[in-house]
Amino acid sequence: MIIFDKVHKSYGDRKVLNNVSLKVEPKEFVSLIGPSGAGKSTLIYALIGAEKVDKGTVHVDDYHVNVMSERALQMYRRKLGIVFQDYKLLQRKSVFENVAFALEATGASKGHVTERVDNVLEMVGLSDMKNHFPYQLSGGEQQKAAIARALAHNPKLLIADEPTGNLDPKSAKEILGLLKKINDGGATVLLATHNSGLVDKLQKRVVRLDKGKIISDKAHSGYEF
Ligand SMILES: Nc1ncnc2c1ncn2[C@@H]1O[C@H](COP(=O)(O)OP(=O)(O)O)[C@@H](O)[C@H]1O
Ligand SMILES: [Mg+2]
Repeated sequence: MIIFDKVHKSYGDRKVLNNVSLKVEPKEFVSLIGPSGAGKSTLIYALIGAEKVDKGTVHVDDYHVNVMSERALQMYRRKLGIVFQDYKLLQRKSVFENVAFALEATGASKGHVTERVDNVLEMVGLSDMKNHFPYQLSGGEQQKAAIARALAHNPKLLIADEPTGNLDPKSAKEILGLLKKINDGGATVLLATHNSGLVDKLQKRVVRLDKGKIISDKAHSGYEF
C-alpha cells in the first residue's frame, strides 16, 4: 500500500530524511517512533504530498505521490484520513458539523451525510456530544471528533501524526484504542509518535526513525526484519 524507496529530503543543508525505504502492506498497523526532530512529520508530509522529496520515490497504491500535480494531490488527499496533534477542528462548528462539512467536501450526497456522521460519531463514542462545540470538549474528545472526521469517508489509510501529543495518559490510551479498532475494521494505520512507551502495549509493528534514518523495524514479537 505504501512504498518509500530510497527517499532523501533536506531543508537547506540539513538532511531530514536520509535514504528512507519503507513498505507498509494493506491492513497493517505501523507505529513510526523516534525523538522530536527525527523526521517523522517530514516523512508524513512526503506521504501526503505536502512536501516534495529531493530523491527517491513515494508510492501509495497507484499514486506516484512525488510526481503528482497539485490538483492530483488534492484528489489523492481526499482519499486519506489524516489526524494531527492539534485536532484542527473548525471552532464555530459543532462536532456534527465539523464531520459533516468534511464529508460534504469529498462529494458525498446530503442524504448519505447525516447517517454516516452519526455512525462515525457513535464509533468514536461522541454521539452524546454531537451538538457540542470544540471549546466545550476536552482534548481527548476533540481528538475523537477529529478522528471521526478523518474516518467519515471511509479511508483505506489513516495517518496520525502525534495524535496524543497534547493528551493526558488516559486520553492517549483511549485514542490508541480507537486507532486499533479502526485498524481491526480493515484500515491501514500509520501512527507517528515520540512516545515509544505508548506503542509498546499495542503489540504492532514499530519502525524507529532517528536523525532521518530508519534504525530498526520490528514486528511486535521482537523479530527484526
Ligand atoms: N519547513 C522546514 N524548514 C526547515 N527545517 C525543517 C522544516 N520542517 C522540519 N524541519 C526540520 O527537520 C527536522 C525534522 O523535523 P520533523 O520531521 O518535524 O521531525 P519530527 O516530526 O520527528 O519531530 C527538524 O530538525 C526540523 O527542525
Ligand atoms: Mg512531528
